[in-house]
Amino acid sequence: MISISDDKVFALTNAEFSYVFRVLDEGLLQHVYYGAPIAHAEELASHFRVDRGATSHFQGVPNLNLNDLPQEYPTFGTSDYRRPALHGVNADGNSVFTLKYVRHTVTIDKPDLDGLPSARGGESETLIIYLADPLHGLEVELFYTIYQNYGVLARSSVVRNSGKAPVDLTHIMSSTIDLPPDDYDVLHLHGTWSREFNAERTKLPMGRFEIDSARSTSSAAHNPFLAVMERGATETSGNVFASTLIYSGNFSLSVETGEFEDVRVLAGINPFNFAWHLAPNEAFYTPEALHVFTPYGLRGMSRIWHRFIQNKVSPERFRNIARPTYLNTWEAAYFDIDEAKVLTLADKAKDVGVQMLVLDDGWFEGRRDDTSSLGDWTADMARFPSGIPALAARVRAKGLKFGLWIEPEMVSPNSQLFEDHPDWALQVPERKPSLGRNQLTLDFTRKEVVDNIYDQIEALLACGDIDYVKWDMNRNMTEAGSTALPKGRQLEVPHRYMLGLYGLLRRLMEAYPDVLFETCASGGNRFDLGMLSFMPQGWISDMSDPIGRLAIINGASYLYPLDVMTAYIGPSPSHQNGRISSIKTRYNAGALCAAKGISLNSLDIDTDVDLLRELMRLAANTSGDFIGGEFTRLISDDTQICWQYITRDRRTIYVAYFHILSAPNLPFRRANLADLDPVAAYELQEDGTIYHGDTLMQHGLALPYVTCGQPQAGVRYMDRGDFASHLFVLRRKR
Ligand code: GLA
Repeated sequence: MISISDDKVFALTNAEFSYVFRVLDEGLLQHVYYGAPIAHAEELASHFRVDRGATSHFQGVPNLNLNDLPQEYPTFGTSDYRRPALHGVNADGNSVFTLKYVRHTVTIDKPDLDGLPSARGGESETLIIYLADPLHGLEVELFYTIYQNYGVLARSSVVRNSGKAPVDLTHIMSSTIDLPPDDYDVLHLHGTWSREFNAERTKLPMGRFEIDSARSTSSAAHNPFLAVMERGATETSGNVFASTLIYSGNFSLSVETGEFEDVRVLAGINPFNFAWHLAPNEAFYTPEALHVFTPYGLRGMSRIWHRFIQNKVSPERFRNIARPTYLNTWEAAYFDIDEAKVLTLADKAKDVGVQMLVLDDGWFEGRRDDTSSLGDWTADMARFPSGIPALAARVRAKGLKFGLWIEPEMVSPNSQLFEDHPDWALQVPERKPSLGRNQLTLDFTRKEVVDNIYDQIEALLACGDIDYVKWDMNRNMTEAGSTALPKGRQLEVPHRYMLGLYGLLRRLMEAYPDVLFETCASGGNRFDLGMLSFMPQGWISDMSDPIGRLAIINGASYLYPLDVMTAYIGPSPSHQNGRISSIKTRYNAGALCAAKGISLNSLDIDTDVDLLRELMRLAANTSGDFIGGEFTRLISDDTQICWQYITRDRRTIYVAYFHILSAPNLPFRRANLADLDPVAAYELQEDGTIYHGDTLMQHGLALPYVTCGQPQAGVRYMDRGDFASHLFVLRRKR
């Protein structure tokens, strides 16, 4: 997978891609190639050195203009004017660094990133390149991991200060990918609360295009994902270069088209509002960036991401493990919840065949609304007189699992924890704090704060009857300062916070490996591979209206497999957008997600009890199908969505079709299924028709006809009216 020539050409090649760079005589790293696999890296033409006129040449080397040289880890101030990978102020007070090759190693053990989460190794090799700037005693290690069976290149870097004076860094990016000139589009996922993951595709402009977060959470505004692709690329063809980060805090993914039209992708911690004081003998580890190349368009890209996340990022413990269906109390009762209601809802859950009762917000000391109590994680004795362990045991005695909501990173100003430790919230001197949902963020840069929260969570989990935890986080940070850090290190707080959080998660996962954790941040405000590397599933959005959710799942599916998504049947009219929809469509919108459930009150459950029994039993009986399989977007436009899902054993095919607004006289539509076995026979479960794989892929599956007219015999119809849906199931015969 990794070949290294005598003249230091490094070629990382597997069946999906080649990535090639070399060491120049000057000691700089020149990027050479990233694309479809090639066997003879040594044949790749070297970079022309010409005097283009009005350009600067690197440290006196004739015609070596770094501004047009593709590089691996560029710095600023020596003829490259684009944004660098590494930047800051050295002991001399200037910002000029020159990193030159020193040596390299190759290892099959994927290096640990000093507390940061990263993809698991295995059937992989990691190339480590050591660079140094002896003038300032700065050393950089670049990690490149290539896998035998995945089209993913994992990259990160470490900066060490081996000099005698501190260095103040502002840019410490995880990776740079310098792409050749071409006509590119860029695809990214933007949004806001309850409207996350809108995919926008736009022409890559000259200059800089950047998505980032300065909220100290990866955020719903921009998910940490970006794809640069050939202008002509489609769902099924064309070169795509995509990037993400295994990180949950302030990130930046930027694409800069330079004056010579070459394109630089930088991935890492957001340099805006960031600084790191690197004292002698200290090291800084960057989050891991993941890069995908595929010539097979966006579908090809998603395939690679999904398989990689399923097998190398999601926690191993829950890999290929079916997820329980659940009833969540939030949209059933909000804060109007008590022990008796929980037990009633547990009975209802049991009756309709749901497997777990999840007690959401509102159970802890004094919590009647969102103005108090975060930080005091003991049961409210007025409404939960038996306490959580006893309640959990009673729910379990009914034959259900028990799950609990917590928001451990937060503190309400109106809480015992805050009264006891006002300095434990993030804050800056002499400024009134800005509140978000009436709450403050705890200072997770401090060990004693993290330890206190660990102990409080442990006190809950120690009873052994809590099967699941919904880990929420409901505000972006402001005044992100720490009373425990000196003035010169205040801009380190957001990243130090992430290290504190990841440390806490790691401790909890090690102590309670069997507890299923679900990440949530007002829905999708921190839905990223950092959190998902600890927690197998996530509440992707608070939007529980099915039509609103379709677009969210569709957008998120560019990067994330549906294995990591949860969905439930919420109330109608929807509490988020007022839309009225059928129970069937509310189920179908989440039908391909790994974890399904309901969040309905007793009355709503009683009203539709038969249908809910049918659907929740279906969800429970088929939950194993929706782990580790292969999801494909077949159709997604303004009026319809069609998704396909092939189970892990490739024997069952689900096709979920949604028609959003009804209209008269629409075309007869078909969906061309993908990646079936062309010679295998598949039986359509609803009518027993047999189709072969080639028929379903080439001629397609006839989609139900949308009509407002009178139904006629022999025609498969959608339900009448808006927001109709249909779930096909096909089973492979032999
Ligand atoms: C957030 C979550 C919801 C719910 C509430 C409880 O908004 O996204 O699902 O848990 O908090 O306060």
